[in-house]
Amino acid sequence: MAWPNIKGTVVLKASNGADEERALLFAAEILKKGGLVAFPTETVYGLGGDALNPGAVQNIYQVKQRPPDNPLIIHVTGMDQAARLVKEIPPEAFLLAENFWPGPLTMVLPKKDLVPDITTAGLSSAAIRVPAHLLARKLIHAAGVPLAAPSANLSGRPSPTTAGHVLEDLAGRIEAVLDGGSCSVGVESTVLSMLPGIPALLRPGGITLEMLEDVLKRKVLDLTIEGKGGVFKGAPPSPGMKYRHYAPRAPLYLVVGDYPAQRKQLVALTESFLMQGRKVALLLSRESAGICPAPVLRVLGSREKPAQIAKRLFAVLREMDLLEVDVIVVEGFDEQGMGRAVMNRLRKAAAEIISTDGKDSTW
Ligand code: TXA
Ligand code: MG
Repeated sequence: MAWPNIKGTVVLKASNGADEERALLFAAEILKKGGLVAFPTETVYGLGGDALNPGAVQNIYQVKQRPPDNPLIIHVTGMDQAARLVKEIPPEAFLLAENFWPGPLTMVLPKKDLVPDITTAGLSSAAIRVPAHLLARKLIHAAGVPLAAPSANLSGRPSPTTAGHVLEDLAGRIEAVLDGGSCSVGVESTVLSMLPGIPALLRPGGITLEMLEDVLKRKVLDLTIEGKGGVFKGAPPSPGMKYRHYAPRAPLYLVVGDYPAQRKQLVALTESFLMQGRKVALLLSRESAGICPAPVLRVLGSREKPAQIAKRLFAVLREMDLLEVDVIVVEGFDEQGMGRAVMNRLRKAAAEIISTDGKDSTW
């Protein structure tokens, strides 16, 4: 049976073992020839190409409209394949790999010359991870090469957590998408620099700062406490930090601060937009769900369970585009555990950050 094809992008859906094998072979052939295939990982869908083929990598940047100075993550099947790409792996990186690979942890290590400069945007280090999603690892194995894969969205848009999201942005621009259903984590991997010196967090993600410190038994430097509104203005420690990201089309107002005051501010802001006749979307925690009526109301999850919120966040942001809302008002969450990754994404998506305690500021 032929696979569906949307604007020239083949949708590879694997509902049983035989289909899966056929889909993987088809996708692997494309990758071996330097083509691009989007594939599921446990975090978000990746836009994969042969990490060692400069032409394929060039296409990734082009298709995504990604700034050329923002390096890609290289996906491998395990430590053996990782070791072929980097000069040295310090004992602490081994320890982290033992604990968190396969999984949503990306480690930045000094690269070997084998890794083309374009893959790392000219940096002497490479970001490497072993995805937990079985289809992702099977695909890397079938392709026989490490896969460079940024999130499979157009640059600046919310990352895709379903094959449908990938097609919204990239149908007709890539050869195929491997459909593996919804991603379980929902936000991207944690990026950790393991270059000489203190391990440094470059992006909060699926593995929390607390989990890293527990294993390493020492402090990890948090370099993600960013400038105004979550974007670095000068030279950031990781190129990705200086870009605004994850933004839905309507302006997003993020309300942060002390919880009771925050709730009052959420209501006041929503009411003022409603009075202006705007189609407001209000994104709240389960705990705040009843505070105020709004034309579009979405519960992201419990304040106590930021992993739930992480899982739904990008899908809800994308839904806001489909609903053509005029303005989005979002509750802020505690910046601990997975809450750090959630707030990092919300800050970058925000047109404005409104603080009830004066600590935060507008972008
Ligand atoms: O979960 C994920 O990490 C997903 C899935 C597909 O694996 N991928 C992903 O890739 O989020 P991307 O390209 O959207 O984000 C990669 C981030 C960027 O912020 C980039 O600047 C940073 O990793 N990065 C890549 N190489 C780096 C390096 N050598 N040094 C510092 N930061 C690096
Ligand atoms: Mg991305």
